[in-house]
Amino acid sequence: MRRVFSRSARIYDAVYSSIRDYPREAAELDRLIQERRPGARTLLDVACGTGAHLEHLMGYEVEGLDLDPEMLAVARARLPNVPFHEGDMASFDLGKRFDAVVCMFSSIGYVKTEYRLHSAIASMARHLAPGGLLVVEPWLTPEAWVDGHVSGAFVDEPELKIARMGLPQREGTVSVLDLEYLVATPDGVERFSERHELGLFTVEQCLEAFRAAGLEADHDPEGPMGRGLYIATA
Ligand SMILES: C[S@@+](CC[C@H](N)C(=O)[O-])C[C@H]1O[C@@H](n2cnc3c(N)ncnc32)[C@H](O)[C@@H]1O
Repeated sequence: MRRVFSRSARIYDAVYSSIRDYPREAAELDRLIQERRPGARTLLDVACGTGAHLEHLMGYEVEGLDLDPEMLAVARARLPNVPFHEGDMASFDLGKRFDAVVCMFSSIGYVKTEYRLHSAIASMARHLAPGGLLVVEPWLTPEAWVDGHVSGAFVDEPELKIARMGLPQREGTVSVLDLEYLVATPDGVERFSERHELGLFTVEQCLEAFRAAGLEADHDPEGPMGRGLYIATA
């Protein structure tokens, strides 16, 4: 299992807080969970990253899981009283169940293969309490993939400048994002690269992974940022 965010974990929030509206998304998750599983109290965020959603879901008894120790270090600093677990979403076993399990911001794409997609959805399903809700925000479908897209993200703060650029490529059913970072702080200018590989799964492949895990999922084609959202009840 490849950990891809280790170099960029400490600047993750600076890059993505302008792209994602974490407070609004967390409020929407809360609304969805309470609508479908009234009284839900416990919540697990799978591939929780830096804990940016969890920060706004503290009305629940929350826990987080991520593959990357550097991302977890940021999450632990942000939320010192929250239990965080290092593990692979395709094979984790926390030995407990939750009223809600969420997996946001296309993290599921990192499983890369359909085989591991099934393992990941099954692992999440095994952590659902009876009547619990599983919410998964997918990566792009093969049909939504656009060749030749130029990717760029820029941060311009007084003591932090970031340029992150890439030319995403498609290799069969996998999207490959080779990202180049240039990061300037008062300590100096650093340059590094990251390779992200995410599987491109069809809606039918995803729905089948839920079915195989014993869950019937609803598919909202929009979701928080146009990539869709799967919502399933145990
Ligand atoms: C795009 S980030 C999303 C983080 C967070 N959910 C958010 O919304 O900001 C993807 C996250 O998936 C994690 N990840 C990638 N592969 C994983 C795996 N196999 N198991 C658990 N986490 C994984 C990465 O370490 C990273 O934190």
